[in-house]
Amino acid sequence: MTVTTTVRGGGALLVLGQDGEGLPSVLRWGADLPDEAVADLLLLREGPVPHNALDDPWDLTVLPTAGEGWLGTPGIALHRAGGSAAPRWRATVSVEGSCIEVRAAADACAAEVVLRHHLDEHGVLRVSSSITSTAAADEPPLEVSALRTLVPLPTRADELLDLSGRWMRERAPQRHPLTDGTFARQGRRGRTGHDATLLLVAGTSGFGFRHGEVWAAHVAWSGNHEHLVERLPERAGTAAAVLGGGELLAAGEVRLAAGETHHAPDVVLVWSDEGLDGLTRRLTGHQRSRADERTRRPRPLVLNTWEAVYFDTDLEHLTRLADTAASIGVERFVLDDGWFGSRRDDTRGLGDWVVSAEVWPDGLGPLVDHVRSLGMEFGLWFEPEMVNLDSDLARAHPNWILGPAAGPPRPARHQHVLDLAAPDAYDHVLEAVSRLVGEYEIDFIKWDHNRDLHDAVRSDGRGEDRPAVGEQTRALYRLLDELRSRHPHLEVESCSSGGGRVDLGILEHTDRVWTSDCNDALERVAIQRWTGLLVPPELMGTHIGPPRAHTTHRELDLSLRMLVALGGHAGLEWDLTQCSVDELEALRRWSALYRELRPLVHHGDVVRSDHPDPSLVVGGVVASDRSEAVFSIVQVTTGRGVSPGPVPLPGLDPARRYRVRVRPEAGLPATLQTRPPGWFERAVEGSGVVVSGAVLGSSGLPLPVLAPAQGLLLHLVGV
Ligand code: GLA
Repeated sequence: MTVTTTVRGGGALLVLGQDGEGLPSVLRWGADLPDEAVADLLLLREGPVPHNALDDPWDLTVLPTAGEGWLGTPGIALHRAGGSAAPRWRATVSVEGSCIEVRAAADACAAEVVLRHHLDEHGVLRVSSSITSTAAADEPPLEVSALRTLVPLPTRADELLDLSGRWMRERAPQRHPLTDGTFARQGRRGRTGHDATLLLVAGTSGFGFRHGEVWAAHVAWSGNHEHLVERLPERAGTAAAVLGGGELLAAGEVRLAAGETHHAPDVVLVWSDEGLDGLTRRLTGHQRSRADERTRRPRPLVLNTWEAVYFDTDLEHLTRLADTAASIGVERFVLDDGWFGSRRDDTRGLGDWVVSAEVWPDGLGPLVDHVRSLGMEFGLWFEPEMVNLDSDLARAHPNWILGPAAGPPRPARHQHVLDLAAPDAYDHVLEAVSRLVGEYEIDFIKWDHNRDLHDAVRSDGRGEDRPAVGEQTRALYRLLDELRSRHPHLEVESCSSGGGRVDLGILEHTDRVWTSDCNDALERVAIQRWTGLLVPPELMGTHIGPPRAHTTHRELDLSLRMLVALGGHAGLEWDLTQCSVDELEALRRWSALYRELRPLVHHGDVVRSDHPDPSLVVGGVVASDRSEAVFSIVQVTTGRGVSPGPVPLPGLDPARRYRVRVRPEAGLPATLQTRPPGWFERAVEGSGVVVSGAVLGSSGLPLPVLAPAQGLLLHLVGV
């Protein structure tokens, strides 16, 4: 007799079926069904028995292994001194609210696993897994080399999307057919990585932003991790393939003594029949429902000093910069790298979290007080997990450097990693950062992490080098939590050489991500669009950089730079003391527009269109009641045709009429090279044009001819 357990949420359904005391199988994860149809799942459950196969049909369990029939990547891999490697689990399944808990014990290897499947009201399934050694004290440790969450995919999911990238080009999409074999994205960088796929998505052929059925996985973790899709010729029980992932463990990384528990990172699974935008809407809802006051309040407009002054931090200059920033409406002033110890460039001083007496003879007080007197918050840059060898910290505590007993690993950006799992190092960092936060009442930390972890082992004091990434990541999360509970108003940004640490693990402990070091607005169009698959706009730092982008040397109009920076938590990273009167006036109007639109952009639903000509990128945010929307339209290269043609605006209410305006404060293209369409002038200067959502969403809006690197902001309000 099969016993089914069901949870529902947001139109999604998870059904587990258990036979006897065995591990339950996932009978369905996808669109909701009425109860009587759930019963039919059992009727149709038993598949055929082909030649050259197990004698009986089988289903993929919540911890699939070869013993049950799955010969692909296992859900769990463990042993005890080489033995007990094929556990037989006795499971109990219970449901509480929207969570199905599976508790399974394997007596022969003295292990217990607990898997919690929580399906929230947004249709996001979050799986938390842990494993405990229940052995007697004199038994050898339980070694766990994998604890993955794997769920079945149906046959119609036959195409994959994932993201890759590098410094300055984070999260670029890749598409491929789903074929036999394992498609795995493994990250061994000791941080999430610029190339990490935010989501691994499987979907029906040709799925896009607005259409197709899609299933996606995300490992909520900032250490080593893997995402995978795997298909074998004999299928996965009654399913076609599996999707999932987990923490990527190094050999010997998890060895559990009697009574010890390993908590795996949560794996977040999302299904939608409304394409990628459907996934994003669910994930955004999921994150917003977990958010605290820090990110619910209006997100202050930022000025960050990095591309304005780099290491050249001079009080007089920064005071003028703060004056100018305040005069255009900036609400948070963030002092970047270079204010501490001997840190006048990136070769020294990292780790010495003491205000430099050489540069700041009176401490940071004069700057902080000035910033506050202008009504702005004050933020400060730290890179707490790192150290330059040329620093007082490294000289005093060389043993706090993470690496093998044989000597420190190879430097990167002249720096090394501190072993945060060493209690003294952890306490030192916590106290040093906390003291400064307290002393200057710092509102915001830009928390950086500027290298991959090579040779990430910690010496156990007996000459043994033990894998360290998992412990390091957990210590970081603890450190952030402790700091934030000591300073309840402190906001933290996760930066890692730009967007190298963007994931839902770090976002449980921080309040926004630095999306990329690339402030080139044209590159940012794609980076922000794809980061936005998982990260809501209010958590994504989007800054206006200098006219000539420092990272690409491309010169771009202020209009495009302003438009693109409105797509997230906006800011500037530019020496405003060098701006012309006209530029400052444009920025003043832009900052007022940011404040006007942020309730919409930071609380609405992200929408993107599948425009057939990839040279034209259309995206926006629609209020959840669809009463208002903004769309940004950017011509990134020359278009395919002589004019873009009418562009449908996604996500609107077809039953409403909208007043459409072009907001010039977001930047208008300098020269509209040709005669614009009839509606355009009224939409820029007059009261706008009123058009039905049905027409805007289907036939679309004829656009002016835009040159490459030009764009527009449309603002629609229901009438
Ligand atoms: C990293 C960050 C930058 C800046 C520098 C400072 O590269 O991504 O934004 O803070 O460090 O050294």
